[in-house]
Amino acid sequence: MELSQNARIVLEKRYLKKENGQVIETPEQLLKRVAQNVAQADYNYQKSPEQVAEVEQGFFEIMDSLEFLPNSPTLMNAGNELQQLSACFVLPVEDSMEGIFDALKYAALIHKSGGGTGFSFSRLRPKHDIVRTTGGVASGPLSFMKIFNTATDVVKQGGTRRGANMAILRVDHPDIIEFIKAKKNKEEFTNFNFSVGITQSFMDAVVNSENYPLVHPKQGHVVEELSAQKVFDLLVEMAWDNGEPGIVFLDRINQDNPTPAVGDIESTNPCGEQPLLPYESCNLGSVNLSKFVRNQAIDYDRLKQVIHTAIHFLDNVIDMNQYPLPEVEQITKANRKIGLGVMGFADMLIQLGLPYQSTQAIQTAKDVMGFIRQEARNASNTLAEKRGMFPNFPNSIYQQASKHLPLRNATLTTIAPTGTLSILASSSSGIEPLYSIAFTRTILDGQKLVEVHPYFKELAEQKGFYSKELIERIARTGSVQGFNEVPQDIQALFVTAHDITPEAHVRMQAAFQEYTDNAVSKTVNFPHDATQDDISQAFILAYQLGCKGITVYRDGSRSGQVLSTSNTT
Ligand code: CDP
Repeated sequence: MELSQNARIVLEKRYLKKENGQVIETPEQLLKRVAQNVAQADYNYQKSPEQVAEVEQGFFEIMDSLEFLPNSPTLMNAGNELQQLSACFVLPVEDSMEGIFDALKYAALIHKSGGGTGFSFSRLRPKHDIVRTTGGVASGPLSFMKIFNTATDVVKQGGTRRGANMAILRVDHPDIIEFIKAKKNKEEFTNFNFSVGITQSFMDAVVNSENYPLVHPKQGHVVEELSAQKVFDLLVEMAWDNGEPGIVFLDRINQDNPTPAVGDIESTNPCGEQPLLPYESCNLGSVNLSKFVRNQAIDYDRLKQVIHTAIHFLDNVIDMNQYPLPEVEQITKANRKIGLGVMGFADMLIQLGLPYQSTQAIQTAKDVMGFIRQEARNASNTLAEKRGMFPNFPNSIYQQASKHLPLRNATLTTIAPTGTLSILASSSSGIEPLYSIAFTRTILDGQKLVEVHPYFKELAEQKGFYSKELIERIARTGSVQGFNEVPQDIQALFVTAHDITPEAHVRMQAAFQEYTDNAVSKTVNFPHDATQDDISQAFILAYQLGCKGITVYRDGSRSGQVLSTSNTT
């Protein structure tokens, strides 16, 4: 395994097995532990020990080469006591004391095991509503969410990672204005991402400058009407102010719900890439695209092999998983959703010589993701023939499709942020452009180290314009745009998230979404001086292009952020 120093630090801190605070496994032993554990599932399907050993070797190889990594909980917990392998959960929040506090307890159990939770609070009766049993008044979704936030702080995931939550409130919930404004106070709800659940009828009302109704979630009557434009503008203003709330397009998400007969999707996981039914969980994994370029072309043969092994791996994870609740186990095993995605996409584009903003880059995104989705389906079909279709298949959209292909898994593809995985693999994260070409890292003793992107360093040395002084100057902003000593074509290739127009960000997200069963994690970056109108246009473009949601970030808009490119370890 070729690991960077950063990767080793992260592994030691959070992933390698410890006893009495001492690390007791090497990175290779970690991969062996994971491969060995996940391969065991093959015994459920009449495999011999020799065959299982072969499967284990295949799993080990694609991880050891850093061509594929499963989500963090699988790396941390497979073969260990916890054995909780999934990153993503959605829990229902019913409108009753029992319902609310059950959800709180379940969330605590999931956080303890390294998973993240998403909730829709839309079923809760609004603030000031009457509580029939006591004659008192309801405190509303926001006050309950504060308790979830505090519980998350307290649990701290047993030292692995801090719990992450998503809170969704439908745009037609009577408390929506309070929800939209809630994160203006940056001290509150620090363990939550907020997203407004937007409906198609709301978007129609915005376009037609009409009012839209706020509906009582239990009784179904219209509580009041609001100007759709005013609510949209408030949403835009808040997102401009500090990036939150984001939005999710609920109708668009439910268009792709593979099992509408089983239930509606009302929430996603914390980072938005995985819409799930109540109690459903999902395990993710990512192919590292930076490992698949040979002679300036994509090695589709190798990519196909890795996809097939990865789908086999992720399907096995469902069997080997220790579920925190019987309800989660039941629905997860009935749908068998998995999410294979990518990291290192920006690195791959650089190797191919394609600027991120170019039309060829968009085409490459479609080609690669289209290939991954197709091969993932083929692999799931092969598994279905050997292991059976997912139990809800007869209830699914695939059964109704005229030429249906039996599948082992209700969904196959998801683009995760790969926040930690990309550090382990030393690749660019998810489908994001590079964050900076060079930056200054302050290490523990206060010493400053300038780090430079390895491809840029290599090219700069080859073309003879590399100098320590140049790299130090680049590290001040992270960007190479406008540096005369850097040739134009290299400037075009080494663009960062801040050099790219918001429109290009949204178009890339939409290109991946077109070929992804679940959703796409992406941040649409804006310069500091972007206007609210710019944000509004990005929201509308994302809606028009069929994205399932959008998260924006205006540079420097969160408190304490001085320079977007400095980094502290
Ligand atoms: O790279 P890694 O596998 O650690 O995670 P990611 O791709 O950045 O995030 C994938 C999902 O893991 C998120 O959407 C969350 O559901 C979950 N997660 C979490 O629960 N807590 C975190 N601190 C980070 C991620």
